[in-house]
Amino acid sequence: MKIKYLGHSCFQVSTAGKTLIIDPFISANEQASHIDLKSLQADYVLLSHGHQDHILDAEAICKNTGAKIISNYEIVMWYKEKGIEGHPMNPGGNWDFDFGRVKLVNAIHSSSFPDGSYAGNPVGFVISNKEATFYFSGDTALTMDMQLIPKTSQKLDFAILCLGDNFTMDYKDALIASDFIECNKIIACHYDTFGWIEVNKAEIISAFEAENKEIIFMDISEEQKF
Ligand code: NI
Ligand code: MN
Repeated sequence: MKIKYLGHSCFQVSTAGKTLIIDPFISANEQASHIDLKSLQADYVLLSHGHQDHILDAEAICKNTGAKIISNYEIVMWYKEKGIEGHPMNPGGNWDFDFGRVKLVNAIHSSSFPDGSYAGNPVGFVISNKEATFYFSGDTALTMDMQLIPKTSQKLDFAILCLGDNFTMDYKDALIASDFIECNKIIACHYDTFGWIEVNKAEIISAFEAENKEIIFMDISEEQKF
């Protein structure tokens, strides 16, 4: 399984011969301005909630590639109106896709579309196949529900956690989250894209090291293999 960082909370996952893009926010992200949207491949686009900084480029990517949306019911129906196919789910539900199993898990956040309409409940994802299992938190507060993840999923190989504070968990809560999900290999997201979520990476790295955990700040366009 290959994970490529496309900035903010956006990751491209290559696994089982398929390509997934999670939470695409590229064209308005100055740090990702070198990425050509039209060059991106995708079979599926996974959306954690309706906020602009998670869905901005979903329509363009789906129209360029024919990718299907995987998200909650309301978000999938919103894109269906635009002629984009998808697979609707909701928290607690699992589905076996041709690349592996997806489970939607709880996130504590809000979720509305840029036009103000209702975008259902925000979610995180647990994605699992023979290559690896990982949790993508989406935008969320630290929540006790995270303790359910290791009880209901295969052992996580890694997790992608938001930690930029203000809108989501900060790194101290993300450290507790890593205990709850029983995973010590964490990829950071939702930090440094705009002023309210700037972080001190050195401080975060030493806080994780002090608990024998690994925190990975990927460069944009960097790839990691699991
Ligand atoms: Ni959000
Ligand atoms: Mn966000």
